[in-house]
Amino acid sequence: MNRVSALCIPILSLTLLLTGTVYSSSYLAHAEKAPDWRVTGTPEEQLEALVKITPGTSHWMPEIAYRFQTMYWAGKQDKWEFAEYQIEAMEKMMDRVATARTKRAASINIFRENVFGDLDEAVKTQNFEVFEEAVAIMSSECMACHTREGFSYITVPAVPTKPDSIVLD
Ligand code: HEC
Repeated sequence: MNRVSALCIPILSLTLLLTGTVYSSSYLAHAEKAPDWRVTGTPEEQLEALVKITPGTSHWMPEIAYRFQTMYWAGKQDKWEFAEYQIEAMEKMMDRVATARTKRAASINIFRENVFGDLDEAVKTQNFEVFEEAVAIMSSECMACHTREGFSYITVPAVPTKPDSIVLD
């Protein structure tokens, strides 16, 4: 390394460091000045912001899929109470979707009527074959709703390939 570059590198590093510090402190000052609707907003502004950040269908669906997968594998591993727990949680999530996105409510009702009665009965038998049939009906009803709502490419297997819960083996 020649003398010029030996001198340049520390100077350059120092300059970059200082610029970074100045930039980040002015950024922080700027961020602190940004009004926070939770603190200073009017009730109307707060309500508007809350409505805007209310999770919609695409937010709830991965969790519904997790519940579906976990329910199947809980039954498969004879953990029937855990399977029932997943079904209850899934029903609540469907209600949440219907409330968050009212345009989906009619479709959710069809799903509810075609699925939960038989599934509740099946899980109580603690017989895996009976339960597996009810799960297959559920998966086809999931897809029927996807088709009604214009998302037929989102497919749901009758047999999810593996469990994805720390509670299961
Ligand atoms: C209202 C009827 C309806 C029902 C019933 C329904 N879905 Fe969905 N699902 C949707 C819609 C609509 C989307 C796309 C949402 C969007 O992008 O806004 C979706 C998306 C999904 C996705 C993709 C999520 C992502 O972003 O990766 C999965 C996975 C999924 N659903 C699984 C299921 C499973 C499993 C069931 C049944 C247990 C089910 N869905 C039942 C309407 C439904």
